[in-house]
Parts: sequence; structure tokens; C-alpha cells
Amino acid sequence: MPGRESFPRAVPARPPDRAPPPPVKDFRRFSPAALHALFADVYSSSDTMSEALEDKYPDARSLAENMAALEKLPGAVALAAEVDGKPAAYAVIRPRKQARLRHTADLGMGVARDARGRGLGETVLRAALDRIRDESVIEIVYLMVRADNAPALRLYEKTGFETVAVLDRDTKIGDVYFAGVLMRRHMRA
Ligand SMILES: CC(C)(COP(=O)(O)OP(=O)(O)OC[C@H]1O[C@@H](n2cnc3c(N)ncnc32)[C@H](O)[C@@H]1OP(=O)(O)O)[C@@H](O)C(=O)NCCC(=O)NCCS
Repeated sequence: MPGRESFPRAVPARPPDRAPPPPVKDFRRFSPAALHALFADVYSSSDTMSEALEDKYPDARSLAENMAALEKLPGAVALAAEVDGKPAAYAVIRPRKQARLRHTADLGMGVARDARGRGLGETVLRAALDRIRDESVIEIVYLMVRADNAPALRLYEKTGFETVAVLDRDTKIGDVYFAGVLMRRHMRA
């Protein structure tokens, strides 16, 4: 029909098994209880996190206090992807506090158990890295990931992280050791 699009689409169609990307919002747009529930889901469904949630954020209040302190650090980013009105994936980029390391930061992230493998991790991580790039405070983002965490390694490699070192026996669960991979991404390269 005249006037209708008559040229091939430049953008390939999205694979049919992937829904459109969900909105990504700052932590402050969610209640501390909803965020804590997401963290509890991630930590209880994966043994790949190095710390226990009861040590890190024992309750919603401690999470809210920690996030309030984080917000004050220049360059900090705390984002969550929203699905059905609830946070379903998070990425936190925490600037280091030491005076001469404040151009660097550490990444932590997780996706709710039932939402994994659908691109949510990539969506929230890319949004966080975009924010870091826009703010131009943090120059290097570091992370540690267990060497047997294939989805996480794949995600970090495809979003531009490079391996700095592989640390054998980095994690110990019971009598079993796991290697850790130290990765980083330069934001100004
Ligand atoms: C690791 C994690 C954040 C990845 O998020 P996700 O939403 O599941 O991952 P995505 O769907 O965005 O997929 C990212 C990439 O990993 C790949 N991937 C997903 N699941 C995979 C699996 N089981 N094995 C291998 N690769 C996998 C995807 O195929 C995709 O790569 P591709 O686009 O080249 O195909 C999520 O699985 C998670 O929260 N795991 C538990 C907590 C955790 O490990 N946090 C990180 C600690 S460092």
C-alpha cells in the first residue's frame, strides 16, 4: 500500500521467546521490603554468592540503611528491573571508599530464581553500566565471580568485562573449594 513502509527493516525481530525488556528503576522506587524479598530469593536459590544474606542485610531495614549510605557515594548505582510491579533483578555498583580508589567500584547483582535465563540480568547490568558511563565518576568496575558460574561468566564477558586473574581455592563450601574469577571493565576505554 502506498505510504506504508516499503523497505526492509534494519533491526532484526526480537526472538519470540523473549518478552520486551522490563523497565529498570532506581532502588528508591521500590519498598525496602520488596527489595529485601528479591535479595532473599536470589541468596536462597544460589550458593554462588560469597556472603550470607543474614550477614549482609539481615532485614529490610538494614538494607534500606545500607542503600541510604550508598546513595551518598559519588558514582554509586543501585537499579532493579521491574516485572509485574516487583523488583525481579538488581545490579548494585558500589564505589570503593578509600581516597585513592574512588574511581573504582565493585559490582554485585542477582536475578530472581524464576526470572533467570530470560535476559533480565543483561538488561539490568547494561542499564547500570550506562548510568556509570553517563555519570563519569567511576572509571573501572570490578567483580568477583565463581569459575563454575557459567551464566554469570557469559553475561560479564558479553558486557565487556575482562578476566584479570583466576584465584584457585577462593571459595570454600564445606570441604569443597571453588576457583574465583576477578574481572574488570574499563568505562573510558
Ligand atoms: C548470573 C545471573 C545474574 C544471570 O542473569 P540472567 O538473567 O539469568 O542471564 P541472562 O538471561 O541475561 O543471560 C545472560 C547470558 O548468560 C547465558 N546463560 C543464561 N543461563 C545460562 C546457563 N545456565 N548456562 C550458560 N549460559 C547461560 C545466556 O544465554 C546469555 O548469553 P547469550 O545472550 O549469549 O545467550 C543470574 O542467573 C543469577 O542471578 N544467578 C544467581 C546469582 C548470581 O550468580 N549472581 C552473580 C554472582 S557474581
